[in-house]
Amino acid sequence: MATMITLPRPAFFTILFLIVLLPSACRCADPDPLQDLCVADLNASISVNGFPCKPLHEVKSDDFFYDGLSKEGNTTNVFGSSVNSGDVRVFPGLNTHGLSVNRVDFATGGINPPHIHPRASETGVVIEGKLLVGFVTTSHVLHSKVLKAGEMFVIPRGLVHFQLNVGKGKALFLAAFNSQEPGIVILPTTLFESKPSIPNAVLTKAFQIDEKFYNIVSVKNKEGFFAAGIQIDAVCNKFSVLLLKKMRSEGKLKEIEISTGDNFQGRGATAFGDLKKLMRSCQFRSACRCADPDPLQDFCVANQNASTFVNGFPCKPVPEVKSDDFFFNGLSKEGNTTNVFGSNVTAGNVLVFPGLNTLGISMNRVDFTPGGVNPPHIHPRATETGVVIKGRLLVGFVTTSNVLHSKVLKAGEMFVIPRGLVHFQRNVGKGKALVIAAFNSQLPGIVVLPFTLFASTPPIPNDVLTKAFQVDEKVISGIKSKFGS
Ligand SMILES: *[C@@H]1O[C@H](CO)[C@@H](O)[C@H](O)[C@H]1NC(C)=O
Ligand SMILES: *[C@@H]1O[C@H](CO)[C@@H](O)[C@H](O)[C@H]1NC(C)=O
Ligand SMILES: *[C@@H]1O[C@H](CO)[C@@H](O)[C@H](O)[C@H]1NC(C)=O
Ligand SMILES: *[C@@H]1O[C@H](CO)[C@@H](O)[C@H](O)[C@H]1NC(C)=O
Ligand SMILES: *[C@@H]1O[C@H](CO)[C@@H](O)[C@H](O)[C@H]1NC(C)=O
Repeated sequence: MATMITLPRPAFFTILFLIVLLPSACRCADPDPLQDLCVADLNASISVNGFPCKPLHEVKSDDFFYDGLSKEGNTTNVFGSSVNSGDVRVFPGLNTHGLSVNRVDFATGGINPPHIHPRASETGVVIEGKLLVGFVTTSHVLHSKVLKAGEMFVIPRGLVHFQLNVGKGKALFLAAFNSQEPGIVILPTTLFESKPSIPNAVLTKAFQIDEKFYNIVSVKNKEGFFAAGIQIDAVCNKFSVLLLKKMRSEGKLKEIEISTGDNFQGRGATAFGDLKKLMRSCQFRSACRCADPDPLQDFCVANQNASTFVNGFPCKPVPEVKSDDFFFNGLSKEGNTTNVFGSNVTAGNVLVFPGLNTLGISMNRVDFTPGGVNPPHIHPRATETGVVIKGRLLVGFVTTSNVLHSKVLKAGEMFVIPRGLVHFQRNVGKGKALVIAAFNSQLPGIVVLPFTLFASTPPIPNDVLTKAFQVDEKVISGIKSKFGS
């Protein structure tokens, strides 16, 4: 629509920009290749960004073909779905090419539970069946549609999304990612089954439920998350199996047993050293590596009133730029923490501080009452680093391998949260707490999980959430009611 509408009040534009701008996720994908091919050397002993290249004379045509997506996955698990990843860990020819493909199978009623890919946008095509596909923007708007064979969807990087088989039979789709290894953060698993677990106090406050209730969720989930564990580890698992088979063929391993749940068991002294190395390589890998695009001039103060819509904001004409554009006092005041979470985020991003435009950086202040929680959330476009100014804060994030890293910090101590990963803070001190955080994006975006999952507009259908969290409808409606939907 080219029609220009003149709105009388600038505040309106701000809201408009909030709605229109926030949804776009991370704009860049994996780094570009620097040569024709760099087939992954999956057993190299050095660890680099991606994988080192195999020597050229060892490269075979087979490195550029992969048949692992040809077979239907086993959907006998609580979610009734199976994700088969064709990424660099099983298909070494993809290394440095910033691309991979998954196959996802569904039993009748099966769900691919709400999840996030920290390093890639996704586009997919339904091959068989009828799927409800949805994603939630950082403004908590749910975009969803029922698709049938031949129809496509796109999911911007770092946003929560899901698929549910709403047809009568099986369903299948193929999805492409602009990353050789997009990573996956499965929310039920990340929130309720990380190791060590996210403290109950964080979850009860974040989801506004009582502890008893949470325990029920957790117990009910025990069985289910075993299956989810298989899904999250599938890539690592397959990589392990390939490597183990190779080790066996090289006579390094006498016997191997591959069992679905427990990954594998191996025997032989050499094997164990290699297995440890392998498990380490299956652990946390760095998230999104690039930040906002580089500026092409000294400054480009955001013209938030401009009628054209570009990536970021157009620049104010230079003669109109004032020194005040480069200063902002909005972080000087304590936020009002009288709300259900007992915390308040005051953002110092490009929407309120136009001088940040194109500079790829911004800051927040977060205030906490005693016991206050900054609920589990994700920044789709930025890595975050913060310093505690006052109080004692438990700060934690969960990797794509479902490992929780957390620590109690006091004034002067810092933390870092890799882009796109689920994280939270909780005031565990006796008084108020305050943290100042910096982001490598002018507008990092925020996906607050309680709102995204339970208060989107329109709401995520209950059957998606009941199946994802393995609880009954009453529980889901109960949580939804706490967030006014
Ligand atoms: C893996 O390591 C073995 C020696 O440990 C080596 O012979 C082989 O070439 C390596 N594989 C690749 C793909 O480089
Ligand atoms: C699928 O997985 C289930 C549960 O792990 C298992 O019992 C069943 O044998 C598997 N089916 C096939 C065809 O592998
Ligand atoms: C936006 O327009 C208002 C008046 O309509 C003006 O006061 C304000 O400075 C403008 N903001 C920018 C960034 O140009
Ligand atoms: C955060 O604090 C500001 C300033 O006191 C207030 O306007 C805002 O409503 C608060 N936000 C929440 C979520 O309580
Ligand atoms: C903080 O927010 C609460 C709830 O909105 C309100 O009742 C209270 O007056 C606010 N406090 C201040 C200091 O603004």
